[in-house]
Amino acid sequence: MADQEPVTLSIEGGIAEIRISNPPVNALSAAVRGGLVRAAEAAAADPSVRAVVVTAEGRTFIAGADITEFGKPPIPPSLPEAIAALEGLAKPVVAAINGAALGGGLEVALGCHARVAAPAARLGLPEIKLGLLPGAGGTQRLPRLVGAVPALRLMTDGNPVSAGDAQAMGLVDEVAEDALAAARALALRLADAGRPTPSRDRMDLGSREAFEEAAAALLKKGAENPSIGACVDAVRAAFDKPFEEGMAAERAHFLRLREDPRSKALRHVFLAERAAARIPGLPKGTKPRPVERAAVIGAGTMGGGIAMSFANAGIPVTLIETSEENLARGLERVAGNYATSVKRGSLSEEARAKRMGLIEGKVGLEAAAGADVIVEAVFEEMGLKKEIFGKLQEIARPGAVLATNTSYLDVDEIAASTRRPGDVLGMHFFSPANVMKLLEVVRGRETAPDALATAVELGRKLAKVPVVSGVCYGFIGNRMLARRTAMAERLLQEGALPQEVDKALTDFGFRMGPFAMADLAGLDIGWRIRKATGKTSPVADALCEAGRLGQKTKRGYYDYSGDGRTGTPDPEVLALIERVSAEQGLTRRSIPQEEILERLLYPMINEGARILEEGVAARAGDIDTVWLNGYGWPAWTGGPMFHADLVGLPRIVARLRDFAAASGDDSLQPAALLLRLAESGGSFASLDQKEAA
Ligand code: 3HC
Ligand code: NAI
Repeated sequence: MADQEPVTLSIEGGIAEIRISNPPVNALSAAVRGGLVRAAEAAAADPSVRAVVVTAEGRTFIAGADITEFGKPPIPPSLPEAIAALEGLAKPVVAAINGAALGGGLEVALGCHARVAAPAARLGLPEIKLGLLPGAGGTQRLPRLVGAVPALRLMTDGNPVSAGDAQAMGLVDEVAEDALAAARALALRLADAGRPTPSRDRMDLGSREAFEEAAAALLKKGAENPSIGACVDAVRAAFDKPFEEGMAAERAHFLRLREDPRSKALRHVFLAERAAARIPGLPKGTKPRPVERAAVIGAGTMGGGIAMSFANAGIPVTLIETSEENLARGLERVAGNYATSVKRGSLSEEARAKRMGLIEGKVGLEAAAGADVIVEAVFEEMGLKKEIFGKLQEIARPGAVLATNTSYLDVDEIAASTRRPGDVLGMHFFSPANVMKLLEVVRGRETAPDALATAVELGRKLAKVPVVSGVCYGFIGNRMLARRTAMAERLLQEGALPQEVDKALTDFGFRMGPFAMADLAGLDIGWRIRKATGKTSPVADALCEAGRLGQKTKRGYYDYSGDGRTGTPDPEVLALIERVSAEQGLTRRSIPQEEILERLLYPMINEGARILEEGVAARAGDIDTVWLNGYGWPAWTGGPMFHADLVGLPRIVARLRDFAAASGDDSLQPAALLLRLAESGGSFASLDQKEAA
């Protein structure tokens, strides 16, 4: 076999070593599957071979099937065929699991006759997270090897287990620092002792009753998740049917789920999140700057959470305030958050102490001098931010990245207040910043490529999902959100009720609707911004004027006089809305839920198209990633732009024209890009594919 082949075979000392090398994660592409079959055949045919070891190159063993192949016509051999080729060998086959063995990767290992794992290896069946079930024998071999209940648990929660836990459950035979050497030694021992029984021929399923009990609980909890039903059905077949029939049942479920739009959406989400970390137009060889210390300016709602994100990632951080009093308040809030996590059992006392130890509080901007990255999170006031960046140009060490957490303000204007605009960019975290995954990295006109690369890499280190945005009012997420907020207000004036608007979105899959969300966040934030910018939002303004500021005043769009957190519809709100409708000269009508949903979503999608058109976002997938990680968009619909493709762009264009005509609001007219795609039979996905090529 030539060197560039993704699967190579080398024979030495009676052992055939099959080595997979398909960077970055050794996914099981057609070339790998073909290579495995050929290598198995060659090992079988060579009389000098007494045993076989299967291993892989790099950080992972095998990360699973190649997700990018799922939408394309299948190329033989299939993965079940490749695994059968290994399992069918008369000579013992041992997997040397050097790193992550996930999905199809674990299924390859299950097809081997024994398994040795490195201590850092993780083993799991994450297919459910892609809306699938294991499709290469995982549902048949794993239960026969470790028991039906633990197998079902592994495939329905989708989380990997450590090598140690895998050994304890009987999934791996040995854990060894040098997994390859240990696997070779085991292979030779097995060559003498005889090939172990393959998992397919074992029957260590455990108690049927316990399985049915676990299955019933899972089906009850995950009734709406089609993967759970499929897993249960396939594992049950392991009890009731011969291996080959169980395999056929699994395959049928796998092929059905693979075509389900929900699985397509989840696969899109997986790939879009990773594509978002690739920065377009970055000069080749751009290296991120090293980040060893951070500083955060402002210990308010956001600053405290941002400091926690650094500490959680092991990066020492200085939290800076204007007075000892403000600092103490900020640090107390941070300490309180960690204490709550300890109390809940999600954080150990040791980890809490370590993290708190990484956060140092200081008064005065001079304390930012030693930091490699400085995140400003003071009040949303341009004058104040400019003053701070002006001072930072002297205080910050050369090469430090100067980031602002502004939600709306012009990053270029902030950058212009320093003599080092190349170091300036936006790092827009979302509240609560220690929890929310999204990080919009805002690229200014003058932002240096390596500063941008630093922020994106840092985002990943902070366990965030970074997405690059250009400069505009509200960046990607808040700019689109503004469209939804305006329409939600308009729907109330035309006749809808808060609970009807919220229900349209929660039925679609959002955890909360816009009005429940507004009540939670507090209505005064938007009110203050509207007053400062001369805008109005009649219903929202009237609520604020009536002292209804949301949950914190126990009254907002809903009444919270019960437990303070559960909102119930309030007749007073209805009266107030009816008054506003009358003032606006609108005759109220009942608005069907489908219309409500379309009117909330399509103007956002339209704004997304403008954002793409202007180059504020590089890919439609980036916009989806923002909405999935920052605004609770349901993952199994793939995000706004993926959803738009699914609905059909001509339909969205037609509806936007209806809305524009009915309201006389020209901003609802379809964006040029949306029109062009709709007329040419294109899609946002096709646009991204072109960009990637
Ligand atoms: N197929 C194709 N590409 C994959 C892939 C896969 N299964 N898994 C990862 N990649 C790609 C990513 O898209 C990314 O590409 P890029 O560099 O071009 O953006 C690259 O590999 C690196 O991935 P990550 O950024 O995620 O790298 P990490 O080091 O953070 O994580 C990992 C590595 C833990 C292996 C993680 O990538 C992962 O969880 N992968 C997916 C595992 C999975 O879901 N497997 C099941 C697939 S379905 C299946 O196997 C069906 C079978 O039952 C028949
Ligand atoms: P906040 O009012 O809770 O905190 C701001 C803090 O900055 C205060 O503690 C204040 O004392 C401190 N501060 C003011 N001037 C300072 C100075 N010169 N030096 C050091 N500290 C100073 O505000 P919040 O909500 O944390 O917002 C901060 C920034 O983050 C704003 O730009 C906001 O737009 C943005 N943001 C807010 C989000 C939110 O949900 N609250 C979400 C994302 C971004």
